[in-house]
Amino acid sequence: MTTYGSFPGTRPRRLRTTPAMRRMVAETRLHPADLILPAFVREGVGEPVPVGAMPGVVQHTRDSLRKAAVEAVEAGISGIMLFGVPEEAKKDAVGTAGTDPEGILQVALRDVRAEVGDELIVMSDLCLDEFTDHGHCGVLDAEGRVDNDATLERYAEMAQVQADAGAHVVGPSGMMDGQIGVIRDALDQIGREDVSILAYTAKYSSAFYGPFREAVGSSLKGDRKTYQQDAANIGESLRELALDLEEGADMVMVKPAGPYLDILARVAEACDVPVAAYQISGEYAMIEAAAEKGWIDRDAAIMESLLGIRRAGARNILTYWAVEVAHRLR
Ligand code: PBG
Repeated sequence: MTTYGSFPGTRPRRLRTTPAMRRMVAETRLHPADLILPAFVREGVGEPVPVGAMPGVVQHTRDSLRKAAVEAVEAGISGIMLFGVPEEAKKDAVGTAGTDPEGILQVALRDVRAEVGDELIVMSDLCLDEFTDHGHCGVLDAEGRVDNDATLERYAEMAQVQADAGAHVVGPSGMMDGQIGVIRDALDQIGREDVSILAYTAKYSSAFYGPFREAVGSSLKGDRKTYQQDAANIGESLRELALDLEEGADMVMVKPAGPYLDILARVAEACDVPVAAYQISGEYAMIEAAAEKGWIDRDAAIMESLLGIRRAGARNILTYWAVEVAHRLR
């Protein structure tokens, strides 16, 4: 037989022969502890409300959220990230409901902590978009532009109120400059050095957030391109990473996950804090929709999508499939 390079001596297929062999040589594994469940809680509803574009995902009532948190503990996942959906009438220009101790997110944080204590890491989205009537992640100036520094004052207050309500970790997702430092200071000022910050370090302006906007009943018209990052760029993620670390981020996140695996790999290589990735609503919806049409093997596609995110360098993954996948892994 002719020799081509190291063939036939070297045959990579030997290590792929059986499931047992493939399992032994696998470089990346998923574990329930890798996973974090994003969850929505809606004010003033008696029953959970299904999110149309995210089959299987609901806007929880306070009660159903408590149950979901207990199920998350039982499934062995690491955390839950809460998003509040206030009554429409409670939205205003500055997102007052986001800093009201009786606002839906704060109430839900207290509920969940009462239910799970320290057995689950309870995280809160720290952003104004769910609470503003214009749907932007910050407050607006006289010209209708998102006012960075005025927004930081709102975030500082949100961080304190969320910490008081029981958040172990706050997740600032608004992409304002300087947000991590301001939030760290605000937490320390009230003696909450123990509360961690999961910084949305690389958050791209993305069409894949579409279903989420339904999930939180977003009022946004237009887009977030003046504050979220441009899909064309890598450099600004590395710059944002350096800034977030300087300002005191305990963990950093890349979002969306699937279309940005190169960013995830670069960020994971460039830092030594835990890196999370958020498999967002559109990533979820695409697989569910294709599966519903019978065009894709749903379960296999879910596992492959998560493995890819782990392989690219994510320590933790926020995914709407967290509990389901955790059960499958056990
Ligand atoms: C902003 C926020 C968004 C998501 C999480 N936090 C939406 C946005 O930036 O428009 C998206 C999550 C998802 O799509 O699953 N508070």
